[in-house]
Amino acid sequence: MGAMIKGEKPYNAAEFQRMAENVAFMSKLAAEGFIPGSDAKAGDTAAKDEIWKKPEDFKAKMADFEKASAELATVAKGGDLNAIKPMFGKTAETCKACHKAFRND
Ligand code: HEC
Repeated sequence: MGAMIKGEKPYNAAEFQRMAENVAFMSKLAAEGFIPGSDAKAGDTAAKDEIWKKPEDFKAKMADFEKASAELATVAKGGDLNAIKPMFGKTAETCKACHKAFRND
């Protein structure tokens, strides 16, 4: 999706829409994946303990991501790259915001 946004790959509306819908769906699975205690079973993990120390903040960032990716999927249906670009940027910001706070690099 990033390659299409940057023009490194030709924009394909149907393909972009399919991927945007996958991201929006995945955002729901991600929200269910961080179960307290699961980090101990996961072995190697970059998930910070803050996830379980600040569950409200983590949930809020997850909700931002779900909302942005759902909006991106909606905008993608329109096939208007000029409308898609800013929404893609907004969605990517929600990834970064959570990684910065809750993921070890
Ligand atoms: C609410 C928090 C949150 C949001 C939002 C989020 N992530 Fe993450 N992400 C994490 C955490 C925490 C990890 C580390 C998980 C681990 O190592 O167990 C991670 C790991 C990853 C990884 C590495 C996976 C691996 O197996 O090593 C990728 C790639 C990734 N995220 C991509 C994304 C993208 C792309 C988005 C947005 C479209 C996104 N993430 C949104 C919290 C988030």
